[in-house]
Amino acid sequence: MTELSGFFITFEGTDGCGKTTQIKLLENILKEKGYDVVCVREPGGTTIGEKVRQIIIDRDNSLMTPQTEALLYAACRAQLVSEVIIPALRDGKIVISDRFLDSNIVYQGLARGLGEDEILSINQRATVGLAPDITFFLKLSVEGSIKRKSNFKELDRLESEDFNFHQRVYDGYVYLSRKNSDRIITIDAEKAPELIHEEILDILKGIMKDRGL
Ligand SMILES: Nc1ncnc2c1ncn2[C@@H]1O[C@H](COP(=O)(O)OP(=O)(O)OP(=O)(O)O)[C@@H](O)[C@H]1O
Ligand SMILES: [Mg+2]
Repeated sequence: MTELSGFFITFEGTDGCGKTTQIKLLENILKEKGYDVVCVREPGGTTIGEKVRQIIIDRDNSLMTPQTEALLYAACRAQLVSEVIIPALRDGKIVISDRFLDSNIVYQGLARGLGEDEILSINQRATVGLAPDITFFLKLSVEGSIKRKSNFKELDRLESEDFNFHQRVYDGYVYLSRKNSDRIITIDAEKAPELIHEEILDILKGIMKDRGL
């Protein structure tokens, strides 16, 4: 994807680890500095994708198989990549995505047990080979995640899975971040939001020097 002059950042981690909080802080500072920033979330981020999101998270859909779940995520991603992410990157914008393919690998591939290769194979067409330039994995223990989620009003279908599922998600992220250590940066998400933000910004300044950050 050498023709893409933009920069693609993704945030990953267990539910409630602080992804949305950090994306908001990063978006604000980048916009203040004059960058063109596009923020999207998965699943969703497009009109079609948001409709598919409702099917995925609906607690009434208890019969959904892991395979169907994985394909729905991939369908959302296919729409998001071609409708929003690639055009923005082609225009030289910074794209920040709240979750991307790594979530699919961890949740459906590793925690649900479909396997990493199966998810990668499903997604070959969905992502047309697009990968993030950098990924921040906000590492928060399952206990910490549950504590933060207790502030949430109602949990969706994925969030209401049991402790063991969330532990497999956590373990999956640790495995994936070690395997892709050149791309995935692990951040201690137990720290205060402002400190995490500073750390992320420092890392980005290091790798986006040529873009004047
Ligand atoms: N570093 C932090 N320390 C303590 N609390 C935090 C921190 N970051 C976020 N929070 C709080 O934890 C809760 C979850 O944060 P946030 O919504 O950013 O997480 P998330 O990863 O986007 O969650 P989800 O996966 O459910 O979308 C919010 O109430 C937020 O204010
Ligand atoms: Mg969020």
